[in-house]
Amino acid sequence: MLKILALTLTALLLGACGSVATRIARQVVSLAVVAETAPLEATEAPAVGDPARGKALFTEVRGGVTCSGCHLVDSDARLVGPGLLTVGERAKTRVEGMPAQAYLRESIVNPSAVVVAGYYNMMPGSFADLFTEQEINDLVAYLMSLDG
Ligand code: HEC
Repeated sequence: MLKILALTLTALLLGACGSVATRIARQVVSLAVVAETAPLEATEAPAVGDPARGKALFTEVRGGVTCSGCHLVDSDARLVGPGLLTVGERAKTRVEGMPAQAYLRESIVNPSAVVVAGYYNMMPGSFADLFTEQEINDLVAYLMSLDG
């Protein structure tokens, strides 16, 4: 008897509040969607960098080193690291499904994530602290622009 009463009450409540409940549910779902897509949009946004600024940063000493101390930009030949002339092209195929700019960014801020075959990771792991977000965007834009 109690059980039936409880069931009836639940049914009544659901009937009365059904639309409210649906609205709340929808709200929750849309909030969840926002929460899920917001950070993705932030990381997937194409890097808006200034290649001229990136070029200057490439030879600027940070943390005691320069990119140009280890990388040539007018050839693909090895210095300490691989030459970067056509890196924008090969960056597209380094990691399946990863866009070139994302790969280049990763190579700078998290160099041990993907180590180019035939090389050891000798890049300092601290570039993420030594450059601002904008500066990293600038470096990526510069690297993308090297081969014309
Ligand atoms: C101490 C030497 C050294 C310095 C300094 C250095 N790199 Fe590197 N870099 C390497 C080596 C070695 C590799 C190859 C191994 C690896 O992938 O980590 C590499 C790999 C890369 C790659 C991936 C290349 C490819 O063909 O996939 C990019 C892009 C890159 N470096 C950019 C930079 C930038 C930009 C800077 C400056 C902010 C920098 N590097 C500073 C040594 C260095």
